[in-house]
Amino acid sequence: MMKTSIFATFAALALALPAAAQDGDAAAGEKEYNKCKACHMIQDDDGEDIVKGGKTGPNLYGIVGRKPASQEDFKYGDGILELAEKNPDMVWDEASLAEYVTDPAAYLKEKTGNDKAKTKMTFKLSKNQADVVAFLAQHSPEAGENGDDDDNGDDDNGAAAAPAADTPATDADTAPASN
Ligand code: HEC
Repeated sequence: MMKTSIFATFAALALALPAAAQDGDAAAGEKEYNKCKACHMIQDDDGEDIVKGGKTGPNLYGIVGRKPASQEDFKYGDGILELAEKNPDMVWDEASLAEYVTDPAAYLKEKTGNDKAKTKMTFKLSKNQADVVAFLAQHSPEAGENGDDDDNGDDDNGAAAAPAADTPATDADTAPASN
């Protein structure tokens, strides 16, 4: 009888797993990141290596919630700089990162509207994008509230809150009253 209940527990766990993986499995993503580390380290602000990696690409620590092409000492290509310039309020979120790593050149062309936009990232990830991104989110303090394990799908990390500040309507009051 004992055995059956243990079995039942395992069966329940096994069933629960795929659901958790839907939104990206950070543990699987850590392995997938082996494909990235030749070019990208993950090193925190104290200079601590989370994943030792190359310098061909920028440090990816904190990439979720960071503006594109904003790693201080990295020399970015024109295409991604144009992306950042044309989208001053953009920060990388899980959806945009998954799309970018799938095909960086195509992503830049689409988002800049410039057919000639080029990328310096000569790598495309054709599967498990969500997993890698979940792993990156784990090492992104700015991923904040919804960067943790509770995948409730609301990935809108504040980008929409930023504009709206300037509501110009008020100076209608100061305009001379029509007589
Ligand atoms: C062959 C080297 C190489 C590999 C492999 C590679 N990248 Fe890159 N990556 C680059 C370079 C170079 C850039 C800078 C792109 C530019 O300036 O156009 C970059 C840029 C990026 C950016 C934008 C960073 C920013 O600051 O806006 C992200 C995100 C990124 N890579 C993620 C990944 C992930 C995730 C993987 C693994 C799935 C990966 N890269 C694999 C070279 C690489």
